[in-house]
Amino acid sequence: MTTAVKMKDIVNLCQNRGFVYPWSEIYGGLANSWDYGPYGSLLKDNIANLWKKEFIQKRTDNMLIDASLIMNPKVWEASGHVGGFADPLMDCRECKARWRADKLVDNKIEAGENEPAWYAGDKTETKRLDEIVVEMWIECPDCKAKNFSDIKKFNLMLKTFLWVTEDGSALAYLRPETAQGQFVDFANVARSSRRKLPFWIAQVGKSFRNEITPGNFIFRTREFEQMEIEYFVEPWKDDEAFKMWKENSKNFFENIIWLSPENLRFSPIKKEELPHYSKEAGDFDYLYPFGWGEIETLANRTDYDLKAHMTASKQNLAYFDAVNNKKFLPYVIEPAMGLWRITLAAICDAYTIDEENNRTYLKFEPRVAPIKIAILPVVKKLWHLAKEIYTQLSEDFVCEYDEVWAIWKRFARMDEIWVPFSISVDSEEYEKWNVTIRFRDSMEQEIVKINELNEFIRIRLK
Ligand code: GAP
Repeated sequence: MTTAVKMKDIVNLCQNRGFVYPWSEIYGGLANSWDYGPYGSLLKDNIANLWKKEFIQKRTDNMLIDASLIMNPKVWEASGHVGGFADPLMDCRECKARWRADKLVDNKIEAGENEPAWYAGDKTETKRLDEIVVEMWIECPDCKAKNFSDIKKFNLMLKTFLWVTEDGSALAYLRPETAQGQFVDFANVARSSRRKLPFWIAQVGKSFRNEITPGNFIFRTREFEQMEIEYFVEPWKDDEAFKMWKENSKNFFENIIWLSPENLRFSPIKKEELPHYSKEAGDFDYLYPFGWGEIETLANRTDYDLKAHMTASKQNLAYFDAVNNKKFLPYVIEPAMGLWRITLAAICDAYTIDEENNRTYLKFEPRVAPIKIAILPVVKKLWHLAKEIYTQLSEDFVCEYDEVWAIWKRFARMDEIWVPFSISVDSEEYEKWNVTIRFRDSMEQEIVKINELNEFIRIRLK
């Protein structure tokens, strides 16, 4: 990524090239809500599929589940979300803009300001934060005034009502994280899968948070997707499991999604700032054009969640270790990734400016690229031959067929979204049962036999 790139360049490119559009745009949109277009959906799916391949398909001790978006409200009472999942909110009295107080403080510290010595600890506690905002001369990012309302806690749970009435008895919540599905289903999965510790339960899906300050495109939204793993381990093996997951995540970001290592960092959370249920935690951050932003939280959640659900549901969720004839609650290491944030990171990382030709490309790794192969008849009248090749290849790969415009213009269009292979079909080669493959990276061309085509590409996509 060129350092000069701005978020507005990324947003424009995403809209123009069919990656992400404003939600309900024909009705004027809805602030900070986005739809994934044809290439964006494929890109996001590829990232989720690579995660599933890496962490589920290639392992023997992992299982995927798909829990409901609306769970029994008691789940969220037990997990602490109804009582405590809140952000500290304050309003600028001058321009009326609304801010997360803890974020403004963090931004100032990130910019080099010294934090007050007594800052460590639970900084979301409003009384202390009120004092910090004054002591650190925090100003409104919009109008620069230093005149804020008192800080209030604002719960992030998105409410909905089941059945026909809207009274409190019908109140339910859209899940704010996927993770509680893994905890609630823990005993069922353990029993039905007959797995021994350590094993992990994974889930990818939508989560909802009534964010006070959504923004930065698809970075912070009210509806988003998470990829979360709950790794259940013997309590005395938690520290080594945490280290292992730190490596697993780093490897996934750098070697599978191919994010540049210089744009990635791991920031451990200070012991005194850890939430009460967490023994160790840290964030993986990516350097977006607007600065560092969290893409994963890695946490040792101890046996907090299982214990909370065991108490509230009065069901026994203990694991039985048949070898040592012991019952106990496992500890949990949780790598919690944000799919939308990783998708945005992949787009930012791929953004490449070709100054010589005054163009921009999205230079994706072939395995991440939304479209793998473009199939292009050299002239339109060969469409029937090209469609045969399309049918053959689309059995195994996501392809795009295009017959509109001159062939060089179509190559250029495919280059913009970094389609790794373009296949041109002409009658002379077709008569010999051949097609011509053009490789995006080297721009070289090679003649390949039609009956060897799928295998030829499969090997090169690995
Ligand atoms: N179960 C733990 C948990 O949910 P989190 O740090 O709140 O932890 C995990 O969320 C990841 O989900 C974050 O690192 C981020 O990538 C993503 N995420 C959280 N809130 C988000 C939002 N409003 N918009 C987009 N992604 C979000």
